[in-house]
Amino acid sequence: MNIFYDKTALSKHIKALKAKGNSVGFVPTMGALHNGHLSLIKEGFKQNEVVVVSIFVNPTQFDKKEDLVKYPRTLNADIVLLKSIADTNIIVYAPPVEDIYESKVESQSFSFDGLEYEMEGAFRDGHFDGVGTIVKRLLEIIKPDYAYFGEKDFQQLQIIKKLVELHHIPVEIVGCPIHRAEDGLAMSSRNERLTKAHREAAPFIYKTLKTAKEKFGTKSAKNISEWVESQFKEQPLLELEYFIIADTKTLNPVKQKSTKKTYRAFIAVYAGDIRLIDNIALN
Ligand code: PAJ
Repeated sequence: MNIFYDKTALSKHIKALKAKGNSVGFVPTMGALHNGHLSLIKEGFKQNEVVVVSIFVNPTQFDKKEDLVKYPRTLNADIVLLKSIADTNIIVYAPPVEDIYESKVESQSFSFDGLEYEMEGAFRDGHFDGVGTIVKRLLEIIKPDYAYFGEKDFQQLQIIKKLVELHHIPVEIVGCPIHRAEDGLAMSSRNERLTKAHREAAPFIYKTLKTAKEKFGTKSAKNISEWVESQFKEQPLLELEYFIIADTKTLNPVKQKSTKKTYRAFIAVYAGDIRLIDNIALN
């Protein structure tokens, strides 16, 4: 396994691989890898000879400094996990902050045609400018043929598709399904930080999403939202931040359901001080 800490050496290595006719897939991550990340990498190997995995805790996408400080950094364990799926043809890029940002740790300001206003954009100030900045930078360094993103962060996936379209970046963005623990909780690097009691309470999030999906056939979005809010009021260990049913394409909250459109339910919940997000396709 090749591990690079420096963008110049990485770019040179990838250029040589591409010159030999290899297709390059890319999976950006912030590390603390789990099976959700691995599912993206496995998808990458279906379409490419080589897969680049970046491991970089991007400072500009955190709205709270304490979250950035507390974010798990487990590079050695990540490398062991990556070796378990492929030891050759997998390239790790784990740069220090200076390799990406030089002396200015700042976001570029982006417009994503309104996809950035709701949900994570509304509750995490500057988050998507930070995500846009790092993903654009990484795509420029790696120049992959395909890049893989999880539907776990569905809004992020749509925003990256828009970023690539608006900035004419020559890459195909591939969305991958949400990988869940057996009890339904969406896998996340943050799950490791849950207390035992919060971990036991957390599968309620997906359970509620599944019932919301069942109700979607017959009930209004307002009715379902009120039901979800009432459900969480009875959960002492979980605090609902938002539940929104939105149009899959525009991510605007639904006002009047249309049979011509597709919708998703999006949820953010605090389990103690850990913020968890999830979503589900409704139709
Ligand atoms: P991170 O949270 O590490 O996630 C990296 C990728 O893994 C994202 O595309 C995310 O949607 C996907 N992912 C995480 N959990 C998943 C799950 N349970 N099932 C399927 N996919 C899952 O998302 C980021 O990092 C950052 O914002 C990043 C894009 C790397 C930019 O810094």
